[in-house]
Amino acid sequence: MKSETPVVKNKNYTVKIIGMGFQGEGVAKIEGYTIFIPQAIIGETVEVKILKVNKKFAFGKLVNVIEASPNRKEPRCKIYNRCGGCNLQHITYSGQLEYKTNRVMESITRIGKVKDVIVHHTIGMDEPYGYRNKVQLPVGICNNKNNNVAIGFYAARSHEIINMNICYIQDEVADKIIKLTRRWMKKNSIQPYNEMDGTGIVRHIMIRKAFKTGQVMVVLVTNGDKLPHKEDFIDIMTKNIDGIRSIIQNVNTERTNKVLGNKCRTLWGYDYITDYIDKFKFNISPLSFFQINPVQTEVLYNKVLKYADLDGTETVFDAYCGTGTISLFLAQNAKKVYGVEIVPEAIQNAIENAKINNVDNAEFIVGKSEEVIPKLMEEGVYADVVVVDPPRKGCDPKLLEAINSMKPKKIVYVSCDPATLARDLGILRNYGYKTAEIQPVDMFPQTAHVESVVKLNK
Ligand SMILES: C[S@@+](CC[C@H](N)C(=O)[O-])C[C@H]1O[C@@H](n2cnc3c(N)ncnc32)[C@H](O)[C@@H]1O
Repeated sequence: MKSETPVVKNKNYTVKIIGMGFQGEGVAKIEGYTIFIPQAIIGETVEVKILKVNKKFAFGKLVNVIEASPNRKEPRCKIYNRCGGCNLQHITYSGQLEYKTNRVMESITRIGKVKDVIVHHTIGMDEPYGYRNKVQLPVGICNNKNNNVAIGFYAARSHEIINMNICYIQDEVADKIIKLTRRWMKKNSIQPYNEMDGTGIVRHIMIRKAFKTGQVMVVLVTNGDKLPHKEDFIDIMTKNIDGIRSIIQNVNTERTNKVLGNKCRTLWGYDYITDYIDKFKFNISPLSFFQINPVQTEVLYNKVLKYADLDGTETVFDAYCGTGTISLFLAQNAKKVYGVEIVPEAIQNAIENAKINNVDNAEFIVGKSEEVIPKLMEEGVYADVVVVDPPRKGCDPKLLEAINSMKPKKIVYVSCDPATLARDLGILRNYGYKTAEIQPVDMFPQTAHVESVVKLNK
């Protein structure tokens, strides 16, 4: 019987890569039918083995690069092919930035149908490795090695832990802490968590390092209150880790994918570490949200401030404000800033952050932006400038409607997803807002994530 698709599972094909997908994978076509091939690069000719066939597209495995892109390079990481943490390490850094700029440009024109926009080249990092200030890894059993403890990222689309010794995108201190933790568990026969039956003790390890102060926090997530040999753990960490300031036990007994539970116990030192973004100080506790790449966060926030172009007379709304970090930046040059965020703990953090930085012209409100902002308007509070920084799914349509009836002079849109950004820019264009310029910023080198700051004028 004739196959309905032009490719067959487990067969090899030679294809030309004509595009790049959202996860940084190469895209090829055979008779108009799409094949996604991780680690293939636009412009290359490759041999692909088809692994999965759907009605409209297939997934394949790169078998051989026949004609390589000038942007291809040897990945620095030895477990890159198995680990689900990075997906662009096979591309030169300039090639990664080019991919990100093109992705924003393509989404804006194809999805948003927004034209005549300046999309600047993505701002990259001088050192695109070792940038993460936080790592959160599952702890489990390494089946193939005499029940050794495995600590590492999950493999892509799986819960298999890829045991790791070095991770090039996180600070070196994390590698050292992981090694010491593995050794401590082995020495004291501490059972890692088994997610199949919910037994074992240590579920995850979270490590945070404040880049500007050098302070280090280690959090062991345990499957209950019990943590045997904790004194030994404290002894090992305090003797071997420079900058250690906080050792925490977090208890999570739920059988879910959620990493952290609600209960934290400080085993040693402080219950928070302190870091700075630009001149602003932040106390970061285990459960608080803090930007992962502090170097690029400074770049991103200064761009927001530049695009907002405030003269000190304006009222500004910061929708989806998280722990109020952008609000603090805006408050430097505004008359008043209102930050709105759905998570009450984040608002609590935002209020504290304003206090420790002596910012008294920022007010924080808990609730959905799409509900709080219309309410503020009913009370006669209008904004001259609105900043939005929504999660991946983009802005709620009701919020965009509210912005339309408020008619601020300017909107600054911070986005972590070019597709939903493009959709929202299309809606805002219909409300009379012209997208003036877009600046992508590389917050997550070696991965396919793209962050953008957009300036819109009425
Ligand atoms: C991308 S984060 C932005 C955080 C912050 N602006 C920053 O730079 O750290 C998006 C935030 O929106 C919040 N959020 C999600 N839905 C929301 C809604 N409908 N209204 C208000 N906040 C919401 C999330 O809890 C999260 O803190």
